Amino acid sequence: MLVSVNVGLPKDVPWQGKTVHTGVWKHPVDGPAMVRRLNIDGDGQGDLNGHGGEQRAVLVYQIDSYRHWEKHFGQDLSYGNFGENLTIDGLADDEVCIGDRYRIGEAEFEVTQPRVTCYRVGMRLGQPELPALLVSHHRPGFYMRVISEGRVQAGDDIVQTRTGPHALTVADTDALLYLPGRDAGRLRDATDIPALSPGWQQSFRDLLAAPAGDGQAPAGPPEPAWPGFRPLRVDRIVPETDTVTSVYLSSTDGTPLPAALAGQYLTLRLAGAADPAPVRSYSLSSAPGAATYRISVKEEPRGIASRYVHDHLDQGGVLDSAAPRGEFVLADGAEPVLLISAGIGVTPVLAMLHQLADDHSQREVWWINAARRPSEHPLAAEAAGLLAGLSHAREHVFYSQATPPHRHRDHAVPGRLTAARLSELGLPPQASAYICGPASFMTDMTDALTAAGLEPGRIHTELFGALPSVNPGVTSRDRPPPHQPPGPPANGPVVTFARSGLSVPFGPAWHNVLDLADACDVPTRWSCRTGVCHTCVTPLLSGDISYSPEPLEPPADGEVLICCARPGTDLVLDM
Ligand SMILES: Cc1cc2nc3c(=O)[nH]c(=O)nc-3n(C[C@H](O)[C@H](O)[C@H](O)COP(=O)(O)OP(=O)(O)OC[C@H]3O[C@@H](n4cnc5c(N)ncnc54)[C@H](O)[C@@H]3O)c2cc1C
Ligand code: FES
Repeated sequence: MLVSVNVGLPKDVPWQGKTVHTGVWKHPVDGPAMVRRLNIDGDGQGDLNGHGGEQRAVLVYQIDSYRHWEKHFGQDLSYGNFGENLTIDGLADDEVCIGDRYRIGEAEFEVTQPRVTCYRVGMRLGQPELPALLVSHHRPGFYMRVISEGRVQAGDDIVQTRTGPHALTVADTDALLYLPGRDAGRLRDATDIPALSPGWQQSFRDLLAAPAGDGQAPAGPPEPAWPGFRPLRVDRIVPETDTVTSVYLSSTDGTPLPAALAGQYLTLRLAGAADPAPVRSYSLSSAPGAATYRISVKEEPRGIASRYVHDHLDQGGVLDSAAPRGEFVLADGAEPVLLISAGIGVTPVLAMLHQLADDHSQREVWWINAARRPSEHPLAAEAAGLLAGLSHAREHVFYSQATPPHRHRDHAVPGRLTAARLSELGLPPQASAYICGPASFMTDMTDALTAAGLEPGRIHTELFGALPSVNPGVTSRDRPPPHQPPGPPANGPVVTFARSGLSVPFGPAWHNVLDLADACDVPTRWSCRTGVCHTCVTPLLSGDISYSPEPLEPPADGEVLICCARPGTDLVLDM
């Protein structure tokens, strides 16, 4: 039976010094309420990426689960507290199946997916761990889409009109996504249920497509060649242009360095540049199999690390380096490959070009490179030499500020490399593309390539900085650059956010590393904030952590869920 119909429009709610726009506050409606394809009248969602839409029009939660949580938290709860539109008696999560249809009042519904694990339900009840508990206690609740619109009201009977295929319950579906020990057969069943929402279908297909093929969580990145940091010797320092200098690094004992993958980067700790020592990443510009590593560093006007490399680093000196990492790597294949770069973004794609040249690749290679002028065009002669050795290579260089003789000499085209210029090149739509440069450049290039017919999965980008935030529901505001947290410095282990160039001592004011990052305005990516969704997964370059609470499924080796991690030692994180 339908016990209560609850609605609420999104509103701005203060939360941890920020503002969250959320529709999780729902209140019971007296009398009938009209259910429409996207919403019940008077209802709305604050963040349509995570909630709402046709597949998630109506959220359902059971009165039996209310009793369970009242006992668990020792707290009285009232209808709508779990953000649900329909509070119901019956239809337990371990009985209702994806694809089941129900008539309630005048309307008919179809079960599409379990509840999305999101921090807002925990925020609503003042129980931050609730998203994880809903999964681990197998009581998520579920979403339905509206098959036929009509009025519903408290007291209506619920009548099943159709049974979903494969008898996959809501609780089992939820466990398939979020808990370890998946059954590959059930995953395949799930992808064969047409009523399952496209988002969940995709997540299950991704699990089935993971290399192990058994439906278990993907193994994560390959193990780094060494743990933490190790010293590397500065063999040679070679100025490339007025603003770019290459540094060749070798092992301190003369043994060859482990091979990197084409496109990977090193993370260096530059003791001597500042206190604490800045930690910065640099893509390898050398051939992946070379016995020494080469990085090429552009001097930034007020940059701490890059100016140190240019002005103070000495041949014979020693730097601490983490092992080559990164997923922006050249994949095997026979299709054409587009290497697109602007400015210093040339470094990782140059390593890819080395790889193709070393392999005597027969692939069609398009080298598309933008620079201001020859004096700011690093490693140009090296790239031209590699391209000359390939049988199917084409080169397109764009100079935005060069003189005609300079352009003529370098076979360059005048002007910036824009989306329109890229589209005019007649690129092969079956190609794979690797793009590196400023963020806006990569967005333009990605849009142009997608419009040219390249599959989005074949377009790869590398950003030389912090990844964009994923903070669902937090209303946009001008975020200051990363900074030390307010108040006196704490005296716990030092957490270094490498991409943000910030090192901060941890202290009792923060429950976990994510809280610390938030306090420092370091860009973060999260959803549940309690170890279920893995949105916050971050490469851990060095150090040890402990979890509180334990994640429901641990991340791969070398990765950490920062929303429930506390530092045990100093940490270096790739964020
Ligand atoms: C995966 C990855 C790969 C990378 N690969 C390369 C590479 O191959 N080559 C390369 O050169 N870089 C690369 N980078 C970028 C590199 O890690 C550094 O971010 C870069 O060298 C700048 O560091 P910095 O310490 O010199 O600048 P920071 O001191 O961190 O300053 C950052 C920026 O802020 C500006 N700034 C600093 N202080 C002030 C101030 N007071 N007022 C106004 N502006 C200020 C600086 O000019 C600079 O532009 C990569 C980054 C990543 C994440
Ligand atoms: S934010 Fe969901 S696991 Fe960390």
